[in-house]
Amino acid sequence: MSNDPLHWLEDELAGLSAQHLRRELQFWNRERVNGSLCSGDVPLINFACNDYLGLARELNSSTLQTTLAEFGWGSGASPLVTGRTTVHAALENDLATFKATASALTFPTGYAANVGTIAALVDKQDVILSDARNHASIVDGCRLSGATVLIYRHNDVDHLAELLGTAPPHRRRLIVTDSLFSMDGDVAPLPKIAELSRTHDCMLMIDEAHATGVFGEHGRGLAELFNCEDAVAVTVGTFSKALGSIGGFVVGSKPLIDWLANSARSYMFSTALPAACASANRSAVQLIQTEPHRREQLLSNAQHLRQRLQSMGMLDESQNEFCSQIVPIVVGSPEKAIALSAALKSAGLLVPAIRPPTVTVGGSMLRVSLSAMHTQTEIDQLVDVLAIN
Ligand SMILES: Cc1ncc(COP(=O)(O)O)c(C=O)c1O
Repeated sequence: MSNDPLHWLEDELAGLSAQHLRRELQFWNRERVNGSLCSGDVPLINFACNDYLGLARELNSSTLQTTLAEFGWGSGASPLVTGRTTVHAALENDLATFKATASALTFPTGYAANVGTIAALVDKQDVILSDARNHASIVDGCRLSGATVLIYRHNDVDHLAELLGTAPPHRRRLIVTDSLFSMDGDVAPLPKIAELSRTHDCMLMIDEAHATGVFGEHGRGLAELFNCEDAVAVTVGTFSKALGSIGGFVVGSKPLIDWLANSARSYMFSTALPAACASANRSAVQLIQTEPHRREQLLSNAQHLRQRLQSMGMLDESQNEFCSQIVPIVVGSPEKAIALSAALKSAGLLVPAIRPPTVTVGGSMLRVSLSAMHTQTEIDQLVDVLAIN
């Protein structure tokens, strides 16, 4: 027997390979505009990334350069020590104004925001009601909190109501859901969830990671679009999708933000974002407000792709009830998903295969992620290649 205490890993990895579930680390060159990526020398049209508005290349402002010169790169400490600069404070102000809330707090990532926030709001005396397809960071936050977690069937408000009616004894209850689901591209029935949350006296937390900057008149997200922002106690977001950057945030009331700053461990015990990054994030928050044409273009691209896929029978009507920029093409097995993704890649199109545990067993898919920067010709190219595969 080997002396290596990690000898079991080879067997585990071989097991993943046998099930077509092993992930290989890759690297990319970013050469061209329009979000194309290069693998080696081969350019690929990128339908894999979450830079929905094409902001990732727009954030190199002179303000960022000045901030970099003034503060250097690393922030050097957690926010409660010396990591939170005037730029972070200004960013949090901007965010609160943009999201029309009293206060805001920035986290190192959206993942950290979800994990830290949930664990700060509830503990083993409490109950969480969580959608079955919530993002992994919500799932992990629920686990970490120690609360009793009741999972309701995806987007099933009747099941949510049933669980609310039969929940075990508790101190507080938290309902938590993605607003736009990151893999399926479908939306939570927020008005109905908001109503249930009110009648059952729950805290409602929504994750607008994929909706911020994309939906609503001001780009605030789906709660804005569905006119139910007042019912939402806690909103999580990230700078890493439509805002084209990195970092997470929570917006809400002043007591909420004060509490998180005092008890969200992923906030307290992790180094703050660099000030220059906070500066870039400020530009992103400004751009999504001043350049609404980006989200209009994105949603027009989404409509075009969705209509074409529906006419080919690759999306059914129910999947097209709501037009979002995330378009799933469900194929079932991981093997099929990998094969289709490979066929698209050889035609110059990058569309990732999504497999368990990211999606449920039997739900492997290709996830098409659109950008405002895609041209209609590029989208048509994707549809044409899908049609023959
Ligand atoms: C719904 C959702 N929430 C949170 C996150 C985490 O955000 P971040 O990438 O900033 O950690 C993601 C990103 O993958 C996500 O899809």
